[in-house]
This record gives sequence, C-alpha cells and structure tokens, in this order.
Amino acid sequence: MRQIATALIGTLLISSTGLAKGSAPATPQMLELGKSLYATNCLACHGEKGDGNGPAGKMMKPKPREFATAEFKNGATVEGIYKTISEGLPGTAMVKFDKLSEQDRTNLAHYVLKLRGK
Ligand code: HEC
Repeated sequence: MRQIATALIGTLLISSTGLAKGSAPATPQMLELGKSLYATNCLACHGEKGDGNGPAGKMMKPKPREFATAEFKNGATVEGIYKTISEGLPGTAMVKFDKLSEQDRTNLAHYVLKLRGK
C-alpha cells in the first residue's frame, strides 16, 4: 500500500515538473515539433490554421474551437491547453491525447497559442 502511494506521489511530482517546464517560453524547436504533432493529431478537426474548419471539424457540433477568437474553457494558457490535451473535454469530440509524452503535449500547447496569435 505504501509502495503504491509512493509511486503515485512520484508520478504527480513528475507531471508537475512537466507543467513547470511548460511555463517556460517555447524554443523554435518546440514549436516545430508542436507543428508536426498538430498536423498528425489535431488538424483534421481544428484545421491547418486552427480556425475549426478541418475536413472533419466542419460537420461537428459543437465545432472545434477556433483558436484565434474563442474563449477556452480551460484557459488560453500553456497549462490550460495542456490540461485539455491530457483530459479532453468530456461530452465533445475533443478526446484526450494522454498517449502523447508530456513534452509533446507541452509542445502542442505552445503551438496552439502560436496559432492563436499570442
Ligand atoms: C475529433 C476532432 C478533434 C480532434 C482530433 C482534436 N480536437 Fe480539439 N476540440 C474539438 C472540439 C469539437 C472542441 C470544442 C469542444 C467544446 O465546444 O467544448 C475542441 C476544443 C479544443 C480546445 C479548446 C479547449 C478549451 O479550453 O476550451 C483546444 C485547446 C483543443 N481542442 C486543442 C486540440 C489539440 C491540441 C488537438 C490535437 C492534439 C485537438 N484539439 C484535437 C475537436 C477535436
């Protein structure tokens, strides 16, 4: 039992370090990686420019978030977007992408903010 608790705390510590890293400014390399991850995992719904007009996104209700103008339920910050990618938005087509590494999720969060123009 104690071992399980220790393992759990370890995981929590590792994920919070991941988040802390996410708050640092993105390097050009992180944005490049984010862009290719976005093309593979997100573009079909959110569209190349993040306007929600990807081939699959067009027909969706609710539509995928238009990154430049929409409010973000989880906040338009690296932390908020990281949370969305990790947990998804229950009840919508926005599923969680928890198979991606923490670094990949962080890179994606930065790339979404770049598409948002912030
Ligand atoms: C199957 C379609 C689909 C895919 C693939 C998808 N999304 Fe979404 N996404 C949505 C929809 C639909 C919404 C809006 C849900 C709502 O209205 O609450 C959304 C919302 C969001 C939001 C807004 C979160 C907020 O706090 O309001 C972010 C950020 C986001 N997606 C990022 C991503 C990223 C990054 C990827 C790729 C890893 C991705 N999405 C992949 C459909 C998709």
